[in-house]
Amino acid sequence: MANSKKPVIEMRSITKRFLDVTANKNINFTLSPGEICALLGENGAGKTTLMNILFGYYSCDEGDIYIKGEKVKLSSPKDAISRGVGMIHQHFTLVPSQTVLENIIVGTDSEKGIFLNLKSAKAKLLQLQERFGLQVDPEAKVWTLAVGEKQKVEILKALYRNVDILIMDEPTAVLAPSETIELFKTLKSLAKEGRSIIFISHKLNEVMEISDRIVILRNGEVAAEKKTSETNTKELANLMVGREILERIKRKEVAPGKSVLEIDNLTVINDKGLEAVKKVNMIVRENEILGIAGVSGNGQRELSEVLFGLREPVTGSIKVNGKPVKTGSPVSAIQLGIGRVPEDRIETGLMMDLSVEENLILESHISPNFHNKGLINFKNIHHFSDVLIEEYNIKTAGRNAEVKSLSGGNLQKLILARELDGKPIIVVASQPTRGLDVGAMEYIHQRMLEEKERGAAVVLISEDLDEIFTLSDRIIVMYEGEVMGDVPIEKATREQIGLLMCGVKK
Ligand SMILES: Nc1ncnc2c1ncn2[C@@H]1O[C@H](COP(=O)(O)OP(=O)(O)OP(=O)(O)O)[C@@H](O)[C@H]1O
Ligand SMILES: [Mg+2]
Repeated sequence: MANSKKPVIEMRSITKRFLDVTANKNINFTLSPGEICALLGENGAGKTTLMNILFGYYSCDEGDIYIKGEKVKLSSPKDAISRGVGMIHQHFTLVPSQTVLENIIVGTDSEKGIFLNLKSAKAKLLQLQERFGLQVDPEAKVWTLAVGEKQKVEILKALYRNVDILIMDEPTAVLAPSETIELFKTLKSLAKEGRSIIFISHKLNEVMEISDRIVILRNGEVAAEKKTSETNTKELANLMVGREILERIKRKEVAPGKSVLEIDNLTVINDKGLEAVKKVNMIVRENEILGIAGVSGNGQRELSEVLFGLREPVTGSIKVNGKPVKTGSPVSAIQLGIGRVPEDRIETGLMMDLSVEENLILESHISPNFHNKGLINFKNIHHFSDVLIEEYNIKTAGRNAEVKSLSGGNLQKLILARELDGKPIIVVASQPTRGLDVGAMEYIHQRMLEEKERGAAVVLISEDLDEIFTLSDRIIVMYEGEVMGDVPIEKATREQIGLLMCGVKK
């Protein structure tokens, strides 16, 4: 709001290169006190890189940074924090076995003293919680918290260090709608107190709701800058992608075929030893997309882990085309033709130290296509990789680039390319478009519909109701580990699905 005030942040002519990629080109960026500025751009546009520079995590090759009017050289996040800049990454950095309070005071003066300090630290924490409405039990162990609560702890940790400029990199990607509403309340109250926020998101509606100003990056450059009150989601999408986004995908009606995946009486225990999936039955047919809706933490993750072969159920069975699946075996899942798109791409989907190509052939390297009389057929492998990179528009320096150099959204595209290319009989996709820009999301939605038209049985697990309604033929809602209803798309309404998600049966 306070655009006329002197800026708290000025980044001037910032350029950052990684080998052959220029991630940021001559970028100018300013931030005013009390302002919420959104940073928007396609996957790989350079948003995270720019913020990592402001947070002292990367140094820039060219350009200057001014914080509160003073030219600074940031050689580490510690420098940034001491100048009041905090960053909350999408992947949290908390220690699960410690309490909320312990996590918050680690590395601060309160930690160094004795018992007494812990008391005053707690008092300070409670005060902050009160002031910003961030309720979490200071004595709770972090591993017992839901994602939204962990994020609150990260915010409290920054506030505890007197941060007045907060960078949030895709904070809502992992939140349920109700958690997002709460986060927005917090951000607004922070801004009201004069703190400034940089907010990165691919969700254009959210950006419209929360920001005062929007900066759009394209290919590492500032493509546009808009006052939020003077733009709309359609214009933003165009500015980001440089072309019209149709937001309309072609959906052919195909009649579902025979049942392919049968889940019978499945009960699964989670890491905390509690029943996360309770006596669940479901079938999925050929040419059908079954959408599994639900607020995060209602058993969807554990269900998908069983289907991926990563977790053993305590009771129940899974059959693919009538054949029982050997549970707890990823290899068996792959051999039976299950394409697996896990929610957590870094931990379970990819080998971060390997190249793009090695990751693309991770599950298909034994294919006869890639061998020639005992010799590896590199020509075919290279061709295969190049085609997938092109087809899925994976932004990378090339097939030999290390996977860890890819941006968040491009990692997701890589997994989708690998899994869908094998023409699986069943596709289990967990939050397949989380973190993807609007253009990439459109492409993935179209691809999933094509999988179904080709004959695949698709299980789509998503917290995004728009996505569920766009793609599903049938919707199941999971609530506290149970199936709350099985509704064909023609009969489903948002209101009814929303109520089922809260555990309310009509
Ligand atoms: N450590 C690195 N080494 C090499 N290249 C990198 C590195 N970090 C980022 N890049 C490259 O810089 C470009 C910008 O990446 P960045 O992570 O900033 O994108 P982003 O806008 O945050 O995208 P997303 O929305 O997918 O998170 C990409 O092409 C990426 O591959
Ligand atoms: Mg990013």
